[in-house]
Amino acid sequence: MYIKTLIIINLLIFINFVHANEELVSYDIVDLSIPSSLTNEDGDIKNGRDIVLSRRGNCLACHKIPSGNDIFQGNIGPSLAGVGNRYTISELRLRLVNPYVLNPDSVMPAFYNVRGLKRVDKKFREKPILTAQEIEDVISWLFTLKTEEM
Ligand code: HEC
Repeated sequence: MYIKTLIIINLLIFINFVHANEELVSYDIVDLSIPSSLTNEDGDIKNGRDIVLSRRGNCLACHKIPSGNDIFQGNIGPSLAGVGNRYTISELRLRLVNPYVLNPDSVMPAFYNVRGLKRVDKKFREKPILTAQEIEDVISWLFTLKTEEM
């Protein structure tokens, strides 16, 4: 039993370590969008929903989001209802990765882009808020939001 717990703790530490040192993916911006997936893996729609509706993304601090819950919803940014109708997946990807390309004064955080990418020692390099796969998960869920209904 004790050994089992130790193995699990070690595994958790290892997973965290891999996550923290994940190499940042470079991406091309074309026509105010990022056409290529950051990971070449399909987004996990359910995980994307979990991230958006949890503290992990903190999206609810600024956006109204269809969630089936009557929780506090922000009004700093536009409602995300119907956002899957207004944008393509590639346009959503740019909005999450780096909204400053579209609006240099945006108050929305860049969830993937980090400053000081080049030649900074790994230890001091800034970490993106979400991983590349989490960005893909989030936009795959946003793309399912097709109606204005909350
Ligand atoms: C601090 C406030 C803030 C947070 C946190 C935030 N956003 Fe935003 N978001 C904005 C604002 C403001 C805009 C309007 C465009 C702009 O100013 O850049 C916006 C725009 C958007 C848009 C484009 C919507 C449209 O109809 O044009 C999407 C999609 C979006 N945000 C998704 C998210 C997601 C998903 C999260 C969480 C992972 C998030 N935002 C977190 C403030 C925020």
